[in-house]
Amino acid sequence: MTIYSGRFQQRAAVITGGASGVGREAAGRIVAEGGQVCLWDWDQKALAEAARAVPGVLTAQVDVADADGVARAAEEAFASFGRLDILIASAGITGPTATLWEYPVKDWRRVVDVDLHGVFNTCRAVVPLMLKNDYGRIVNIASVAGKEGNPNASAYSAAKAAVIGLTKSLGKELAPTGVRVNCVTPATFKSPILAQLPQSQIDYMRSKIPMGRLGEVEEVASLVCWLASEECSFSTAATFDISGGRTTY
Ligand SMILES: NC(=O)c1ccc[n+]([C@@H]2O[C@H](COP(=O)([O-])OP(=O)(O)OC[C@H]3O[C@@H](n4cnc5c(N)ncnc54)[C@H](O)[C@@H]3O)[C@@H](O)[C@H]2O)c1
Repeated sequence: MTIYSGRFQQRAAVITGGASGVGREAAGRIVAEGGQVCLWDWDQKALAEAARAVPGVLTAQVDVADADGVARAAEEAFASFGRLDILIASAGITGPTATLWEYPVKDWRRVVDVDLHGVFNTCRAVVPLMLKNDYGRIVNIASVAGKEGNPNASAYSAAKAAVIGLTKSLGKELAPTGVRVNCVTPATFKSPILAQLPQSQIDYMRSKIPMGRLGEVEEVASLVCWLASEECSFSTAATFDISGGRTTY
């Protein structure tokens, strides 16, 4: 039996959206367990704060919707660490809260650009770098919205459903290699992203959770870090629920 401790020693990670929320929490855990981390985020101020909160991390200002910028940042991270083992794709935005027929076209495109194309751009850039060592752990942060659809969140729900599909495809493509690809589908948990939503939408989402409470960022990061670790060896192309009982599939 292998007992793992210091799960991330010798491991190098990129975390998109790493300046805040679950990405930042996961960064703290990976560093505490011996890993090296580069945080990607478009919010320069939040990146600086995260670098103070998690000493030792590298940071890069990256818009995940910009495929060329993502490719450059991936090469830079690989050059800095000499390897790339872990991707946590956590960057995301909610977009406006509105019915589909009232949804502004430019907002629809931006949500899909960040929440779906951002995951595509990032996975596309890092997979060849992981294959150099035939080892990798990719954890895409989808959402319960991608399984069930939340009303007044059609762009977000559609993008997150697509991330689940992308994860299934990529996981199968890489199954014969040492790279595992999984996603998580959290129900609502407390993080700064909730400031993008009206209270009525948060109340609706809380009402759907049988545990009767929102999740904590630490609870989600704990699952994410297991999926990012070597211990996650026989799961790939899979979708992991963390929803207080909201979705049981
Ligand atoms: N909090 C929830 O209730 C919840 C539930 C399900 C899924 N999620 C998903 O979890 C992930 C993490 O969200 P969080 O709750 O930690 O929110 P958060 O707002 O704390 O973190 C998201 C980070 O992504 C960054 N970001 C946004 N757009 C970006 C872009 N184009 N390029 C680079 N960085 C960008 C933000 O600046 C922020 O630092 C998101 O994908 C979100 O959709 C959140």
